[in-house]
Amino acid sequence: MKVLVTGGLGYIGSHTVVELSNNGFECIVIDNLINSEIQVLNSLENLCENNVEFLQADLMNMEQLSSIFDTYQFEAVFHFAGVKSPAESVLKPLKYFEENLGSTINLLKEMQRKDIKKLIFSSSATVYGDLTKSPVYEGAPTSILNPYGRTKLMIEEMLQDLSNSDPKWSIAVLRYFNPIGAHPSGTIGEKPSGIPNNLMPYITQVASGEREHLNIFGNDYSTHDGTGVRDYIHIMDLANGHLKALKYLDKHSGNHLFNLGTGKGYSVLDLINTFEEVNGIKIPYKIMERRPGDIAISYADSSKAEKELGWKAERGLKEMCENAWKWEKKNIYSTTINSDELVLDS
Ligand code: WQD
Repeated sequence: MKVLVTGGLGYIGSHTVVELSNNGFECIVIDNLINSEIQVLNSLENLCENNVEFLQADLMNMEQLSSIFDTYQFEAVFHFAGVKSPAESVLKPLKYFEENLGSTINLLKEMQRKDIKKLIFSSSATVYGDLTKSPVYEGAPTSILNPYGRTKLMIEEMLQDLSNSDPKWSIAVLRYFNPIGAHPSGTIGEKPSGIPNNLMPYITQVASGEREHLNIFGNDYSTHDGTGVRDYIHIMDLANGHLKALKYLDKHSGNHLFNLGTGKGYSVLDLINTFEEVNGIKIPYKIMERRPGDIAISYADSSKAEKELGWKAERGLKEMCENAWKWEKKNIYSTTINSDELVLDS
């Protein structure tokens, strides 16, 4: 059975491709390579039991998109493609509205044209903003902190209207909490360009010596140790959530919303301590001012996904830290090999 995966060479998309492929699905991956690397495809070919076909294309290019939909018959679409930096979205809102909304509308029009009406959409817990107390359940009020989050919520609302207009649509909207870690092979993982915005890739770059120390954004929050608390979820658990959502849509039409998190909150210091313990590496840090837009505490109530999807996050913080570091080490190794520098230790 063929499925289309947009943004399938990105961090979450690539791990989902592995999970789908190793559960009987043939993935057609499209990616414009603006925020991902073609090398990921080589790793996917090694990790995937089923054929993975890659097409370099941009969802903003309707001609390319129509030709793909005229060539392949998909059973379902997983939509990851989009721009995703909250900070950048504040500076460039029009880029975020054009790319995230425009590409999604193009995709939905092509799906409608070819009568493909099964969609899994990559949303984010960022739509809950800072008004909601944790644990956060799907019916909690949303509040938007930046244009990136607004595009996610606007797309969710578009999908609800689409579903209301045509009961043949089967849609799963997945609100991710904080995905971290990497495939246990260490051959795919998170590879942000430039200075990492997110905590775990920054920690692994401190561990590798690429960064001198971690800046902890605030230790005066009302949490057990003053640092921000988040629901970190292993990327492979998140990928499995997508597989379970697809199986759910085989039996359910309509529009369905699920939180994907572990239901546990860990602080920045908890993550640092666990990373140091598991990997035997010291992570030096400095306490800095709070980062604008950050909230104190966010963790999921994922009971709906557990009950309706039969999904539960299985992997703990130690495995997340171990897999993240294994990926970083391999990543450095492959980068230094390519740059012909002497490699002292892999
Ligand atoms: C986690 C904690 C920071 C970096 C973001 C996006 C959200 C979603 C997930 C896409 C916070 C602290 C971080 C650092 C730090 N992405 N921190 N030093 O902010 O919860 O969510 O990623 O959907 O949209 O906003 O994740 O990893 O940036 O921060 O102290 O260098 O780590 O203050 O408490 P966040 P994060």
